[in-house]
Amino acid sequence: MVVNYDRLFTSRSKSLKSSEIRELLKLTQSAGFISLAGGLPNPQAFPVDVIHECIEKVFKTNIHNALQYGTTEGLPLLRDVLAKRMKEKKGIDCELHDILITNGAQQALSFIAYNFLEQGDTYITSAPTYLGALQAFHAYQGNCECIPMNDEGIDIDSLRRNLKRLHRTGITPKFLYAVATFQNPSGESISLEHRKELLEIASEYDFLIIEDDPYGELVFEGKPIPPIKSLDTKGRVVYIGTFSKVLAPGFRLAWVVASEEIINKFALTKQSSDLCSNMFVQYVAYEYVKGGYLDKQIQHIKTLYHHKRDVMIKALKEYFPKEAKWNVPGGGMFLWVTLPKNINTRLMFKRALAKKVAYVVGDAFYPDSSNYNSMRLNFSYSEDEVILEGIKRLADVIKEEMTTSYYDKDYYVNGV
Ligand SMILES: Cc1ncc(COP(=O)(O)O)c(C=O)c1O
Repeated sequence: MVVNYDRLFTSRSKSLKSSEIRELLKLTQSAGFISLAGGLPNPQAFPVDVIHECIEKVFKTNIHNALQYGTTEGLPLLRDVLAKRMKEKKGIDCELHDILITNGAQQALSFIAYNFLEQGDTYITSAPTYLGALQAFHAYQGNCECIPMNDEGIDIDSLRRNLKRLHRTGITPKFLYAVATFQNPSGESISLEHRKELLEIASEYDFLIIEDDPYGELVFEGKPIPPIKSLDTKGRVVYIGTFSKVLAPGFRLAWVVASEEIINKFALTKQSSDLCSNMFVQYVAYEYVKGGYLDKQIQHIKTLYHHKRDVMIKALKEYFPKEAKWNVPGGGMFLWVTLPKNINTRLMFKRALAKKVAYVVGDAFYPDSSNYNSMRLNFSYSEDEVILEGIKRLADVIKEEMTTSYYDKDYYVNGV
């Protein structure tokens, strides 16, 4: 008898969608292809020798524990150094027991969805937003309310208007999800004033703030803005940190800082999911942080990414058509390009594939697929000459697209 998989899969399983973007990006892995699309750190900057030293240290001092199962919450030594670092560097007042180690920030997002979203529950996010969060929340059939972004990060007036509208229909969102600093995808940050206001609004309407912070320490310009969690005295913010962008994503190591009640629930969720994170890697990460190497590495990649951002900006100025606009983020790994309104970057992608260059189409980061004339570019991954060549190719793609019949200069001038 043929297996009837359709009968076996749950409705939740059936609602899972493959990330269209990841599918598109598979096409870009052939030789000679330049991808400015992926959210990857620069592999040349991985601190290979120091990691080797830390591994040797683990072999000398803790190898039997490192090869054993560990506690679900994570290695206490690691949680302790992380707590101290969070206090010192970010002003987040936390202790070891406020921290839970996860397999990447992505696992933390999935725990958020598992614990806070019933089917149809509402959550809020800015638009654009991180694709992986949308995927995690979609897996638990959450209902997304999008708030547009502005130059202070999130449009607070629109947030208030939408909350009032939801309130009238008896809906209170469970949480607001924010990548508050150097957001993926836009590279923008939420201002300090708006962070404070978000906390007030969250308290007024009684929802949580999920602060996902992979890029917060990658500041090249300007003063770092304190994380929302550092302003939280009531346990209203769940903070997610990760080693992925400051050390190596292959470690698959991240952490959640939250109130004890939430940490306990997440520990139960993790028990049923994977028992504990990789102990060996946790010991290596502990040696790395304790040895002060993380701070040095962050300094190193800040300088490197600052330089790469400038290489990309210079190339954009030189090659992109004057109708294209972009931001100059003061940190992180991405910048955001907006093209004339009658260019659809998704339709244009075919032309980019032909020229062997890739970007991420902007509408992928919008739950309602709006904003079709934008794209995300990554500046951290590629070598300088590859960035330059990639931008040249992309400029040709855009110029060709603009000269196709549907490009109408008057429409652009009047329509934006
Ligand atoms: C905003 C954001 N959150 C979470 C993640 C996932 O990070 P991790 O590698 O720690 O799972 C990423 C990765 O790009 C990200 O940009």
